[in-house]
Amino acid sequence: MIDTLKEHLVAVENFSSQSPEEIENFRIKYLGKKGLMNEFFAAFKTIPNEQKKEFGQVINQLKQAATEKVNVLKEALEDQQDTAGIYGDLTRPGQPLELGARHPISIVKNQIIDIFSRIGFNVSEGPEVEDDWHNFTALNLPEYHPARDMQDTFFIQTNPDILLRTHTSSVQVRYMENNKPPIRTISPGRVYRNEAISARSHCFFHQVEGLYVDKDVSFADLKQTLQYFTTEMFGKSKIRLRPSYFPFTEPSAEVDVYWGLETEADYRMTKGTGWLEIMGCGMVDPNVLKNCGIDPEEYSGFAFGMGIDRIAMLLHQITDIRLLSENDTRFLKQFKSAL
Ligand code: PHE
Repeated sequence: MIDTLKEHLVAVENFSSQSPEEIENFRIKYLGKKGLMNEFFAAFKTIPNEQKKEFGQVINQLKQAATEKVNVLKEALEDQQDTAGIYGDLTRPGQPLELGARHPISIVKNQIIDIFSRIGFNVSEGPEVEDDWHNFTALNLPEYHPARDMQDTFFIQTNPDILLRTHTSSVQVRYMENNKPPIRTISPGRVYRNEAISARSHCFFHQVEGLYVDKDVSFADLKQTLQYFTTEMFGKSKIRLRPSYFPFTEPSAEVDVYWGLETEADYRMTKGTGWLEIMGCGMVDPNVLKNCGIDPEEYSGFAFGMGIDRIAMLLHQITDIRLLSENDTRFLKQFKSAL
């Protein structure tokens, strides 16, 4: 009898299964009501006294082993079901995550912000739906001023005082109204103009405008700042300032950067001159300072403004501005590796 028990002990210890039914059958076979363990315990009475001690030990051992085996196998089964059920097979190779690409407008905007923040400019933003005062009047463009025609404006139909801003100079007005000099701020944002859409122009685009107001700010400071910018942005330090006109700056200038004539692309981009126009700038008109609550006797300042789309197109050889707003992923994916 003892030998039979010992054989069972070996069998129990060697038993293994991942099938719930097999494990259940095993449990019933040994530990069920009509199972072997109960049979063995019943047989205990018939065992001669001198063998009882050893028989008792082996039978207990067998019961423990069977109970333990059932528990261990069931646990393993549950673990396996968990991983399969909740997480799937954890040993499978991962799904490749497709990283998004930054939009070329964002890339260029961030570069510009980075360059100016290194010389102490902060970033200011304002609403795209503006009022006449911030977009025009405060900027020395009173009603009926002919220069208002320079920028074809989208008005909100029911209220001619409300419009889509035509430049981010409106943010500079807001900034001057709310902050005391010294002011060093750049204002990036989207602007709107009622223009026919073509490869070269769109009814909305993006600008970054800069403003510096303090005591004794001079035109030389402006030129130095712009030269720093073109060097950092394009690796080109040769610039020229051509006299121009903006109602909010006096004197005003267009900024050209010398791009060079080394490649065929240089020729194409600069129309054979080597020079590229990249922005407008000037000394803030004293009237504008006054309109914004800054005393022009005490303070002076410079301002500049550039188109982000145009610069993105220059840097990445994009020939159609519409690509920048069409969200064609074949186009956008090309910028994956950029900043
Ligand atoms: N606001 C001008 C524009 O939209 C750009 C500019 C800004 C020019 C500041 C001079 C000074 O074209």
